[in-house]
Amino acid sequence: MRVESWTEWDPLRHVIVGRADLGQVPAPEPAVNAKVPEHSDMRGRWGRRPQDSIDRANALLDDFAALLRRRGIVVDRPEPIDFDAGIQTPDFQARTQFGCMAPRDVLLTVGPEIVEATMSFRCRWFEYLAYRPLLTRYFEADPAFRHTAAPKPRLTDRSFRPGYLDDAIGVQTRLDWTARKVFVTTEEEILFDAADVIRLGRDLIVQHGFTTNRKGIAWLRRHFPDHRVHAAHFPGDPYPAHIDCTLVPLCPGLILSNPTRPLPEHLRSLFRTNDWQVVEAAPPAHAEPPPLCYSSVWLSMNVLMLDARTVCVEKTEVHQAEQLDRLGFEVVPVALRDAYPFGGGLHCCTADVYRAGDRTDYLP
Ligand code: ARG
Repeated sequence: MRVESWTEWDPLRHVIVGRADLGQVPAPEPAVNAKVPEHSDMRGRWGRRPQDSIDRANALLDDFAALLRRRGIVVDRPEPIDFDAGIQTPDFQARTQFGCMAPRDVLLTVGPEIVEATMSFRCRWFEYLAYRPLLTRYFEADPAFRHTAAPKPRLTDRSFRPGYLDDAIGVQTRLDWTARKVFVTTEEEILFDAADVIRLGRDLIVQHGFTTNRKGIAWLRRHFPDHRVHAAHFPGDPYPAHIDCTLVPLCPGLILSNPTRPLPEHLRSLFRTNDWQVVEAAPPAHAEPPPLCYSSVWLSMNVLMLDARTVCVEKTEVHQAEQLDRLGFEVVPVALRDAYPFGGGLHCCTADVYRAGDRTDYLP
């Protein structure tokens, strides 16, 4: 076996698919409050999610894993830890944890290396433990595999801006703050979530927002000196966290962009200069996310590329599927909507172990 992946689209051979076991609605804490939309049904409740929703999400994730295996892809699954248990460090306490449905948020695969991200939610501080059995196995099996943990953050109150704790900020204020790059996380320490990064060979694009700060981007830049690391800021998003519902590369030369979160000009011109097509994603099929979900309806564009012409799209996201079909892709429909609340869509619930490809320069 081997660990290596440089892009979001090289042929997928080995992947991790998350699990919904013991999935939680986290108790209030600064970064979680900021991410939960104003009128969300999650406000004011926390604790283990209903067992029937866990069972349903697990059935969908198992089916997705089986579908990938039928296509010859090796699929590994995390080992859930006791996410019901509260945690304590010298600096903070959290009353529950989160779950391990979204390995994309935690694990950043760049070439032969997997980096455990710092994370920015207190409830996700220990989530990497669910993946340690796998990473240890990879370390034993692949002599070239580099297992890295980014600096563990302290996540004291100094890492968060107090204003964001207010439950009734309002979307307009959030948009104003986002436009001014006033995010819930401060520059107290290095913070990033792995899902804020997209990989395009020699180039990494990193979203600056709630879950990744400037120091986090600087850490990634110093850690990957052979890459070009581009910071991206999307003023159209009132809850900017995780780039994979905002900017989604499909294959060399083609990238999907969320029409409500326009691409910054420096990136638009980078793609233009290199003859890439930036296509606005089709509208989501749903007016609302499912119950108890943090993410927006734009999980519609959270697709997983199996290779540069084959794409997994959530089964009910019919507009997104049609658009990708028209663009010439083979579309593989996958039912996952009832698992969205546990951490996201098809891209979120996976993390790359091996894609057959190398560190090509697609944006010279
Ligand atoms: N912030 C995104 C949205 O709601 C959701 C991103 C989910 N991605 C993930 N890797 N968990 O539009």
